[in-house]
Amino acid sequence: MYISKKLREWVDECEKLCKPENVHWCTGSEEEFKQMANIMIERGQMIKLNEQKRPNSYYAKSDPSDVARVEDRTFICSKNEIDAGPTNNWMDPVEMKKILNGLFDGCMKGRTMYVIPFSMGPLGSKIAHIGVEITDSPYVVMNMKIMTRMGEKVLDVLGDGDFVPCLHSVGYPLSPGQKDSTWPCNSTKYIVHFPEERSIWSYGSGYGGNALLGKKCFALRIASVMARDEGWMAEHMLIVGITSPEGKKKYLAAAFPSACGKTNLAMLTPTLPGWKIETVGDDIAWMKFGSDGKLHAINPEAGFFGVAPGTSEKTNPNAIASMKSNSIFTNVALTEDGDVWWEGLTDEAPAKLTDWKGNPWTPRSESPAAHPNSRFTSPASQCPTIDPRWEDPDGVPIDAILFGGRRASFVPLVNASFNWQHGTFLGVSVSSEMTAAAFGKLGQLRHDPFAMLPFCGYNMGDYFKHWLNMGIKGGDNMPGIFYVNWFRKDENGKFLWPGFGDNIRVLKWIFERLDGAENYFDSPIGRLPAEGSIDISGLNLDENALKKLFEIDKDQGINEADEIMNYLEKFSSRLPEEIKGEAIAAKERFMKN
Ligand code: GTP
Ligand code: SPV
Ligand code: MN
Repeated sequence: MYISKKLREWVDECEKLCKPENVHWCTGSEEEFKQMANIMIERGQMIKLNEQKRPNSYYAKSDPSDVARVEDRTFICSKNEIDAGPTNNWMDPVEMKKILNGLFDGCMKGRTMYVIPFSMGPLGSKIAHIGVEITDSPYVVMNMKIMTRMGEKVLDVLGDGDFVPCLHSVGYPLSPGQKDSTWPCNSTKYIVHFPEERSIWSYGSGYGGNALLGKKCFALRIASVMARDEGWMAEHMLIVGITSPEGKKKYLAAAFPSACGKTNLAMLTPTLPGWKIETVGDDIAWMKFGSDGKLHAINPEAGFFGVAPGTSEKTNPNAIASMKSNSIFTNVALTEDGDVWWEGLTDEAPAKLTDWKGNPWTPRSESPAAHPNSRFTSPASQCPTIDPRWEDPDGVPIDAILFGGRRASFVPLVNASFNWQHGTFLGVSVSSEMTAAAFGKLGQLRHDPFAMLPFCGYNMGDYFKHWLNMGIKGGDNMPGIFYVNWFRKDENGKFLWPGFGDNIRVLKWIFERLDGAENYFDSPIGRLPAEGSIDISGLNLDENALKKLFEIDKDQGINEADEIMNYLEKFSSRLPEEIKGEAIAAKERFMKN
């Protein structure tokens, strides 16, 4: 195991600051995974699931105060405030380091400090990057083993090269003889990024994106900065292969906000005969220009950290298969026979469960058995539809980019952009109802440009510009851009579109559009499907619902255009003229309509 001087020094520094009892360099082995589980089981922090039903799988429930990303505690500490931009929390990096040095001082007392070398992306790929996470949480070690390529083999690739240092603590030191908590965490939380230094410090939370620092902190917030500087893209996107009945294959990437359907689209089981979907990634895409001039994408992750509720054999059989073994379940409910359950898994709930808070639960209970942001962690390699090229070091060529969100009204089922610049504006204009994936006001509509609002590591205005620049660089080789909405509702609050496997019908229309089919007409919002061009064969959808899915109200269109122009003002001098121009043009198209 080769350890560079730079890595050794950083680990020594962290040890001096955090004062752990031991230091453990993670090997990434199976035995280590089991060893971590056993440590946690012994402390009452984890339960081994029924080996017959769910081999090598584990269950953890978090503190009820630590169940999702904490956006109001997430900071981008660039030297200048303007470089973090109006959508990020900012603090002066020197001030922030003072606070963090105080918090981390002795924060690992009585605990083991784990050193986790990990690669985001296939080991050795030119698109991949290496990070090292230091953590005091064995739960993080286990999750990182599934979510990334982790351990000794990474150090061999790293050599004396650069890595992103990621320091994490749950912020719960133990004094001699003190009993550990079942989910150690701290009511003080800081998720902090230093973009110029390319480093991450996370304190106080053990959950998801707050603690698995390779994911949102590195692969999006820090990587978006690297991508801006180096001319590539780090995006909150799934990557999927789609093959037509004629055997023609394309790859699509899609950006939807958290808990808005990426995992489901990435593993879709088509209801149209002859179509095939294959999964490359379900949450994050890193895209670089290939030698063919096209954007090529890799999935920097190696596993899925997916939303459990709503996932079933009917909605997402491939996710269900992926989690059959070697998985971790967090904040779901436990069955009497040592397996897991959540709302939506089966039509009928089991008669008796233990809910995510550890209380007895029956179908008559008033609160949900599983937390709405409860998750499964499963190896991507276990997904039956995993794409043969999912670990291709050169990535897969992207033919289309989709944007979407949860919109009960106004936004049509699908529309195509007029061109890259208009498509970029569609990305800018993404808004969505808030979900349980982040602490905040559930259901409230908010702007979430490119589904990157919580994940862009620099000024979002500059990020818009970066998208425009990439379009200029790529020219005709750039992917087509589309906007989809599976979540439109009727006047009774019922979804108009069946969604899930039937979303293939929308993908088919996109596929044909990419191949040059004249399957559209121009509307103020973009190119809408021409009458009869969406394949609804075998679908029990009434005429009226289909009409409603594409209705765009003129007055609401004008209002939306005004509203987005108003929102964009906050980017002031960093707002590209082209985006302002697109907003004005959109309003004019609605006025003329
Ligand atoms: P993150 O992991 O937070 O980034 O979420 P995600 O974008 O991967 O969302 P995911 O696919 O896990 O879906 C979130 C929720 O939306 C789940 O409860 C799904 O069942 C539900 N969902 C996904 N696709 C559809 C759809 O087409 N229609 C409807 N009605 N619900 C959907
Ligand atoms: C999201 O919130 O978009 C997620 C889950 O994918 S987490 O890893 O917690 O960020
Ligand atoms: Mn996500």
